[in-house]
Amino acid sequence: MIKRVRSWLNRGDSQPELQLAADNIPEHVAIIMDGNGRWAKKRGMPRIIGHQNGMKAVKRAAIAADDLGIKILTLYAFSTENWKRPKEEVEFLMKLPQEFLAIELEELIDKNVRVTMMGHPEDLPSHTLEAMKEAVARTADNDGMVLNFALNYGSRKELTRCIQEMGQDIHRGSLKPEDITEEMIGSRLLSGSLPDPDLLIRTSGELRLSNFMLWQLAYSELWFTDILWPEFTGAHLQEAVAEYQHRTRRYGGLT
Ligand code: FPP
Repeated sequence: MIKRVRSWLNRGDSQPELQLAADNIPEHVAIIMDGNGRWAKKRGMPRIIGHQNGMKAVKRAAIAADDLGIKILTLYAFSTENWKRPKEEVEFLMKLPQEFLAIELEELIDKNVRVTMMGHPEDLPSHTLEAMKEAVARTADNDGMVLNFALNYGSRKELTRCIQEMGQDIHRGSLKPEDITEEMIGSRLLSGSLPDPDLLIRTSGELRLSNFMLWQLAYSELWFTDILWPEFTGAHLQEAVAEYQHRTRRYGGLT
């Protein structure tokens, strides 16, 4: 079945309609939202204005993902390494989740979206954590798209914690080393029961993973674009999905 998508925003009439196969929409899309700072710099504005506009792109991406039938959208909003940034920038970034949720939570609830958080909660300021907890609690019974915010997330820390916890279980006698499986490791990571991403998108032309979902991305399709995150629209998500649909996923096997 073909899903015809006439674009939103900046896909002009002169551009052909994208045809997407409705039966091959990636279930889980993860995005490294990069380029906010450069977007602002190009306009002679402070970096935080880039982040503010990045927040608007979050809304566009979420609407577009939901419209396309993507079941899980994971957004890398703050990494365990981002604390190295200037204090004012970190403080600003930590205010964005609550600002976003103050504006959007009612609509997310209406649209049956389930908000989740993937990250290490302990270092987050209480105002950020409380806003996330409220959104998670108020959308917990929704069974539509999962909007998963990776907040204070770092893959190496996630894996280190997981190994430490398994070591403790072995020490206590509740786990045998030979019983450790890939599925068990996956389920003990912060992504928990979420399936691995089918498609990873990174904006801004950088070609790296930046400590994002290193275990979970083992067989994900990667799509990189030079577009800076604040410029990202639904049309870009469609392009990424169209490209995904041309890939053959072999998982190390043969077609
Ligand atoms: C990387 O761009 C972006 C971030 C570290 C922050 C991403 C955050 C958002 C897009 C907003 C999040 C919104 C919500 C609702 C949680 P950069 O600043 O490193 O850009 P640069 O590489 O051009 O400097």
